[in-house]
Amino acid sequence: MDNREETAEIKRPKAATGSPSLESSIPAEDETATIAMAATAVEVKGLSYTFPDGTVAIQDVSFTVAEKEKVAIIGPNGAGKSTLLLLLNGLLRGQGLVKIAGLEVCRRNVKAIRLKTGLVFQDPDDQLFMPTVLDDVAFGLCLRGLGRNGQSEQVVEKVKDRLKELRAEHLINRSTMRLSLGEKRKVALAGVLITEPEILLLDEPTSGLDPAAKRWLEDYLLGLDRTLIMTTHDLELARKVARRIILMSGGRLVAEGGPEEILDNRELLEASGL
Ligand SMILES: Nc1ncnc2c1ncn2[C@@H]1O[C@H](COP(=O)(O)OP(=O)(O)O)[C@@H](O)[C@H]1O
Ligand SMILES: [Mg+2]
Repeated sequence: MDNREETAEIKRPKAATGSPSLESSIPAEDETATIAMAATAVEVKGLSYTFPDGTVAIQDVSFTVAEKEKVAIIGPNGAGKSTLLLLLNGLLRGQGLVKIAGLEVCRRNVKAIRLKTGLVFQDPDDQLFMPTVLDDVAFGLCLRGLGRNGQSEQVVEKVKDRLKELRAEHLINRSTMRLSLGEKRKVALAGVLITEPEILLLDEPTSGLDPAAKRWLEDYLLGLDRTLIMTTHDLELARKVARRIILMSGGRLVAEGGPEEILDNRELLEASGL
């Protein structure tokens, strides 16, 4: 993985060093690139990923997501949806290009990319790590310098508010290890949503939630003025919230389009295993 990353960095065209004539021809291109990047939140080009055991999870996937666009990724189990989200925030690194807010996903940029993105994992046990719910939900705020520690009054109030919206305020002093799966999911969601990331990456956000929390989350995502990429089996959620649907199957992007175009195409969904 490291080798691939280094190769990618060497291949990337660098700003001209030396020749003044070359330099003078570059700014115009650079300006165009900067303007284009400003409107693009996520750019994925020719992305492939194979797990160390040889499982091919992502194959030659390309798509872009505009700033503040809401996209749902759908597809059967094993389609590569979760792996794709991990590649987007740099937890995994594959072959091909991934750019987040103009930053190429590579070791050098990974810290900046994590601050711009908020990823809620499919399995909350992969996410929760602080001893108490309060500390866990407050962690992201503290990381971004928005709170000194989990106990400052302002931070506690913010944590309470976010938990309350998810009907989980009563969990605030509980141990993160001793919660039901649905409760863990609420805490994991609260911990990411509280940081209001520029780009929200949600892996099956409504799975395991009770109806009240699910309704709140749907409305929250509907009103969200940020870039959203979520994977989901909840096609009604996708229809309600997303402006664009990406359909994946067998690690490949098999179709993308507006919600009606994809979700009303029964033949396409069935052929893809949905
Ligand atoms: N840690 C892993 N090691 C090996 N294979 C994995 C691992 N995680 C997932 N896979 C495989 O990668 C493929 C894509 O998985 P995943 O991205 O989790 O699919 P989805 O989220 O669409 O259900 C599947 O074939 C899955 O079995
Ligand atoms: Mg998944």
